[in-house]
Amino acid sequence: MSRRWELIAFTAFCAAAAAGLALGAVYWQGGQTQLEGLLLATAFAAIGFALVAWANKLLHQGTFAESRHALANSERERIAAEAAFDRDQVLERRTLLWRGLALAAGALGLAALFPLRSLGPKPGAALNHTPWRDGLRVVTEDGTPVRADDVPTDGLLTVFPEGHVDAADGQAVLMRVPVELLEPAPGRETWSPDGLIVYSKVCTHAGCPVGLYQAELHQLLCPCHQSAFDVLHGAEPVFGPAASPLPQLPIRIGSDGVLRATGDFPTPVGPGFWTR
Ligand code: FES
Repeated sequence: MSRRWELIAFTAFCAAAAAGLALGAVYWQGGQTQLEGLLLATAFAAIGFALVAWANKLLHQGTFAESRHALANSERERIAAEAAFDRDQVLERRTLLWRGLALAAGALGLAALFPLRSLGPKPGAALNHTPWRDGLRVVTEDGTPVRADDVPTDGLLTVFPEGHVDAADGQAVLMRVPVELLEPAPGRETWSPDGLIVYSKVCTHAGCPVGLYQAELHQLLCPCHQSAFDVLHGAEPVFGPAASPLPQLPIRIGSDGVLRATGDFPTPVGPGFWTR
């Protein structure tokens, strides 16, 4: 009976190992979510079944008590105990089951290493730059260049770098504010000609598009978690969970009246977790 359960538990461990290896193979071939889930569940279920069988069918059951006066074993008892340890079936059973467990755990562990491949290549310095470059024209979503006259006071326009209207990190918001209210940071006095000012549209909290403008307060609002940014003071966050200002894009008005960037954003756009 116990030999039978021993083989059943070992078979379950082997099934878990096979499922683990199959999981690794499926992942390596490109992956299939449902199949991977099924194989993972099979592996864990087989290991669980084997351990339960091991505990319930192969280990001694019941309550055992030893009389207090029997503090020392007799010679006969010692010999009997040695004989019990030497019995092939005891040692063999443990060896077989431990090997089965190691096989199953090894195969699953191997499969668990494969997803490391999904981490992908390091982004390097790519997150520090956007398509904005000196001289690039500021355009709308349909590629139309934005002229300074196109933006009314307290108006807001979503703009992109020319040729990169699909670049998520290049999207920005352009506003015109009364020049006399602006308080540019030192070194940024020329970045907002005629009160035209551009900030990244990617929220520095969790990356949502900051597309709402409360003109009377001169605040940009993020609809996701209600962060508010002060447009007159470098888009510093004044409310909500965002902790960093929206990066400002330096711009100028070209001789043709079209707005052009004079460089990239000075800091990475979006949530800046990699800088902390
Ligand atoms: S993503 Fe903007 S406040 Fe959270």
